[in-house]
Amino acid sequence: MTETHSPDATEQANPPRRNFLVKFAAVLVGGVITAVPLVFGGGFFLNPLLKKKSSDEDSDGFTFIGSTNSLLPGGPPRSYKVTGAKQDAWTTYAETAIGAVYLKMDEDRSVTAFNASCPHLGCTVNYKTDANAFICPCHDSSFNLDGERSNEIPPRGLDTLNVEVRNDNEIWVKFENFRAGTAEKIPV
Ligand code: FES
Repeated sequence: MTETHSPDATEQANPPRRNFLVKFAAVLVGGVITAVPLVFGGGFFLNPLLKKKSSDEDSDGFTFIGSTNSLLPGGPPRSYKVTGAKQDAWTTYAETAIGAVYLKMDEDRSVTAFNASCPHLGCTVNYKTDANAFICPCHDSSFNLDGERSNEIPPRGLDTLNVEVRNDNEIWVKFENFRAGTAEKIPV
């Protein structure tokens, strides 16, 4: 007599494997359903944190400031506004002032850039022709033309910025802000 197995008998013989596959599929589908909103939702919330670059910046973080033709070798420093996209928590404001720099050209035509923000507490310093120095209007910090402090009010000299002259006469500056009130130059 030949023994036969009914389909029910075969299914009953493999319940652990079938259960495993069902559970695996459930975990997979559940994972996808959970991951999709996390990816898109996380991207939405992190978006402002990820977009920090100024619209005027090139890929190296340098911003075009002006032409070397506007500076005299050995002449007085000149101030320039730095514009770009400014961003608060969720909103981007295009083409707004984000800071200021002073540029000066030495006799050998090398260009130096200073952040115009006072390292004492962050006011904007002015170049005073009569004193031939940078003076801060807030608490009288004073700096010579090399950016070195001339009194003990500021904790450090003016902050120099990386500068490049490109295409013979274009001045590009890597604009950065630094923490005020510290002897160390700490980018913020
Ligand atoms: S902020 Fe410039 S001297 Fe105080």
